[in-house]
Amino acid sequence: MPPDSFYITTPIYYVNDNPHLGHIYTTVVADAIARFKRACGYDVYFLTGTDEHGQKIEKSAAKQGITPLELADLVVSVYHDLWKKMEISHTRFIRTTDQVHQKGVTRLFEIIRDRGDIYAGDYEGWYCTSCEKYISEKEAVERRCPDCGKETELLKEPCHFFRLSKYQQPLLDHYRTHPEFVQPPSRLNEVMAFVEGGLRDLSISRSSIRWGVPVPAVPSEVMYVWFDALSNYITGAGYGSDDEAFARRWPAAIHLIGKDILRFHAVYWPAYLMAAGIPLPRTVFAHGWWLQDNRKMSKSLGNVFNPAPLIERYGPDALRYFLLRDVTLGLDSNFSEEAVRNRYNFDLANDLGNLNSRVQKLLDRTGEVTPEEALPAGPDEEAVRASYYKCRNTYVDAFNEYAPSRALAAAWEFITTLNGYIAAREPWTMLGDPARRPRLLRVLQTCTEGLRVVGLMVAPAMPDAAARIAATLGAPPGDPWEFDHNRRFRLSPSNAALFPRIIEKEKPVEETKIEETQKEAANLISIGDFQKVQLRVAQVKTAERVEGAKKLLKLIVDIGTETRQIVAGIAEAYEPEALVGKKIIVVANLKPAVLRGVESQGMLLAASIGGLPVIATFEGDPPAGTAVK
Ligand code: MSP
Repeated sequence: MPPDSFYITTPIYYVNDNPHLGHIYTTVVADAIARFKRACGYDVYFLTGTDEHGQKIEKSAAKQGITPLELADLVVSVYHDLWKKMEISHTRFIRTTDQVHQKGVTRLFEIIRDRGDIYAGDYEGWYCTSCEKYISEKEAVERRCPDCGKETELLKEPCHFFRLSKYQQPLLDHYRTHPEFVQPPSRLNEVMAFVEGGLRDLSISRSSIRWGVPVPAVPSEVMYVWFDALSNYITGAGYGSDDEAFARRWPAAIHLIGKDILRFHAVYWPAYLMAAGIPLPRTVFAHGWWLQDNRKMSKSLGNVFNPAPLIERYGPDALRYFLLRDVTLGLDSNFSEEAVRNRYNFDLANDLGNLNSRVQKLLDRTGEVTPEEALPAGPDEEAVRASYYKCRNTYVDAFNEYAPSRALAAAWEFITTLNGYIAAREPWTMLGDPARRPRLLRVLQTCTEGLRVVGLMVAPAMPDAAARIAATLGAPPGDPWEFDHNRRFRLSPSNAALFPRIIEKEKPVEETKIEETQKEAANLISIGDFQKVQLRVAQVKTAERVEGAKKLLKLIVDIGTETRQIVAGIAEAYEPEALVGKKIIVVANLKPAVLRGVESQGMLLAASIGGLPVIATFEGDPPAGTAVK
């Protein structure tokens, strides 16, 4: 019988920026699971790649004076180098600009349209011409773009809609009958609550964007990036190009993603598949975020860790081990280099490194381990063997439940058992005493076999360290995982220490984050830029509703030197009377604008919480006209 197939994916990464630690995280976790499943005999198909279409990429490329494809090529080569360095064993790297992908996504679109769940319509929304994007209704307070502050206009463009509303009940039914579909379970509740709240049809194409896959038979429109991107999971497995391979690989066992993109994967994606009559993936697993100071590490916040110096200092294996071990898959965690160093020094240099070097040193002194010369295994050796089976079972269950941290903890429990066994037996005291050689060889036999199976358990996390352990012991790849008291080893000359201790260096990698931030300076504004905005304390004199605009209030405010009329989108949160007398902050040097026929001579500051405005006010009672800086 051919081996069972196991298909695992990562998200495909945007090419508007270089990869950071967050991207490495998802890919390393997927790689460890893929390696574990391969070791269990599965025919593993592991897909990763890049998401190359859409406005974001188009803009990024334009900024750098190159074409979107040129930008994508550059970033893709960075990904290829990084994945090689990080020992990522993907079967296929898909790019959404690949011809086979475009062919496949076109077929998916056509099939859903033919089956009646894609229809033509008009997309209407607030559009910022400067940023060339639609602003959601929530963001469009005062109809201004939240990014550039410019006024937006109501635009309509032809597009195609996906009949998502039709899939509310089928999705809920699927979640109920397949609770393993969204993991961890807390995420399933979140997704179900969202779907129970009602689903609106989804616009899945645009005529205002050029860089994308054309809508079949409507070349003036391109597919929405998320329709294009999600389809990679089937096109990358042969859909639309190799139906036989697709039938073998699909459905995917797991889409591993970050929790930020759960809705796309657990709601939209299964709905597209249902509409096309394609079976659903078994599991969408959403992992948590690496944080910096409790905020998601992300390029836009400028708080990402540049992975290169970390890899340089600790090595790919140690970084992989840290990412897999230090946090339960699904939870968030603050990142610090100190935590990496601690894992390195304690788990790797001390526990595993010492085990390896003790065994190596003993082997160097004794030469070959010949089981027939050794004493038979006694109760202590049986206890080591039993500990291994217990740990190995936990390890296998944990990996199968996508809990690599728990799996590695079990491997470490066994390493601790072995180190304890060696410490108690004190084999070094037996060296050079021919009478004690049979006992010495028995101890050595047990810890060499123990180290060999440790190598098998650490292999999904640290392929290089595992290969080095196996090479020293002369253990061929694919060696059985059963613990054999009488295995014959063909030893190779000992190699260098597995994980030499790392002493704190003068310049922690943390500092490279600051350099990174400086590189991002292009996106920051200077104090001079900020001073161009004249903010003043203003007192509200009168407030009334603007006729025919349910969100707008017209305020007359005193800004010290004069009174101003301001139109603000706060009517849903504030009664006009409640505002009279309040001290607020206004931008005093904003070009006047006309909103619903009423002139607005400034703008007030407010936060938007769940779409509702909350006005910024003062703790004390500063006089109207005071500058705010
Ligand atoms: N292109 C989309 C995905 C399309 S999949 C059909 C996208 N790309 S991305 O480049 O922004 O990468 C997103 C993925 O990177 C997240 O889902 C997550 O897996 C990973 N991470 C990015 N920042 C992260 C952290 N700070 N922490 C952990 N992982 C995060 O979204």
